[in-house]
Amino acid sequence: MTSHLPQHQLSIKQILQSGAISTQITVKGWLRTKREGKGVTFLELNDGSCLQGLQVVVPTDFPDYEVLVKPLTTGASLEIEGELVASLGKGQRVEVQPQRIMVWGLADPASYPLQKKRHSFEFLRTIAHLRPRTNTFGAVFRVRNACAYAIHNFFQERGFIWVHTPIITASDCEGAGEMFTVTSKHRGQLLSDFQEDFFGRQAYLTVSGQLEAEIMAMAFSKVYTFGPTFRAENSNTSRHLAEFWMIEPEMAFCDLEGNADLAEAFLKYIFGYVLEHCAEDMQFFQERINDQTLANADKIVSLEFARISYSEAIKILQNGDRTFEFPVQWGMDLQSEHERYLAEVYFQKPVIVMDYPIGIKAFYMRVNDDQQTVRAMDILAPGIGEIIGGSQREERLEVLTQRIQAMGLNLEDYWWYLDLRRYGTVPHAGFGLGFERLVQFITGMGNIRDVIPFPRFPQGVDF
Ligand code: 4AD
Ligand code: MG
Repeated sequence: MTSHLPQHQLSIKQILQSGAISTQITVKGWLRTKREGKGVTFLELNDGSCLQGLQVVVPTDFPDYEVLVKPLTTGASLEIEGELVASLGKGQRVEVQPQRIMVWGLADPASYPLQKKRHSFEFLRTIAHLRPRTNTFGAVFRVRNACAYAIHNFFQERGFIWVHTPIITASDCEGAGEMFTVTSKHRGQLLSDFQEDFFGRQAYLTVSGQLEAEIMAMAFSKVYTFGPTFRAENSNTSRHLAEFWMIEPEMAFCDLEGNADLAEAFLKYIFGYVLEHCAEDMQFFQERINDQTLANADKIVSLEFARISYSEAIKILQNGDRTFEFPVQWGMDLQSEHERYLAEVYFQKPVIVMDYPIGIKAFYMRVNDDQQTVRAMDILAPGIGEIIGGSQREERLEVLTQRIQAMGLNLEDYWWYLDLRRYGTVPHAGFGLGFERLVQFITGMGNIRDVIPFPRFPQGVDF
């Protein structure tokens, strides 16, 4: 018996990847399936490290078989020591011949909900504490992890500094008023004024780390945030969460075109990384979730994104043969049906729409010379719609001051934001990528609630 690996430390993925054979291993995980054959029982163990499990072949004359192996059912937790050998059966290269089986915990088949049959995603959402053990959610959360890793790699390779922006804030970055109030007061306790509250003024959960990222970019030139954000949007859609993660790069000395270049390179990098490092999981999505998954991913990596102005987008929508629920006219916000028409039907690839009407975008975006539009950009993706929103920021003190006032915001609240324009102002730009929309886009999963472990949405804050 040979052993050249610290076997007790290895996950199933590492065991399978190592190519090792005829070696002693210890494998720990949860029983996915149990199949009784002639004189042997096949146990398939999964530890979440990869889609594939490891097959353990237990002869029925194994010591204590009746006590140890007979009662095992799906969901039981096991530790098995044995020899990794070449498999004679189909479907796996190697299997384990056990010498010692230890049962950590049984899972009563009368009540354990994850039996072999397929469950609907709606049902699985009600058991979010168990759904990570299914094939689909295993694949989703491994891809989510790979995306996070790729995102950090992308920025770190390019000299961006990761900055941590606050979760509790006093300003509404997007100006949409969709904020959750943070208070230390409880039901029944009187609060006549926020001055009596913990922070002495009204505080919120942040909708975006952008304003603070801009502060940091004015010192470190290239920064990015990666953290949770919160929006009390009452939209019960398959693309909205109340708590979602956002990645927000911010670059000093950068205009909107540079910003769009970065965003396109960024998405291409993440997709390329996931295709390379999560091939097995991506194949699973292709076969089980959406047969366009791999074709879409290839397109992202290889095709140049379309770039058009908002005004051009309006013309395309007006001149097409499609009639929309929301009639198309210059000045309106693009609705999901318009975004998807542009990305899915017209361009059939991601499209970057720039220079939106001033009336529908946030106060901080740079005003164009036409005074009608601002240097905003949205990236619209097939199947998803808006995946990235960004802009070049207004760096001119007077213009920014006017914009804040014109939008009815309180100038004093933004004194520090205005200071950035007083002292060493520079053109700068950035964007926000919705992390769950990205994972949805890559995997082809239909509902955003199924790409975050514990989704928060109207009337939903379980687990
Ligand atoms: O377009 P948004 O609102 O942009 C910002 O927050 C800017 N401060 C970003 C910046 O320039 N630094 O949001 C950015 C992205 C959207 O494109 C979308 O992908 C995602 O965040 N997003 C949501 N994802 C899930 N659930 C929601 N309720 C979301 N709202 C926005
Ligand atoms: Mg947006």
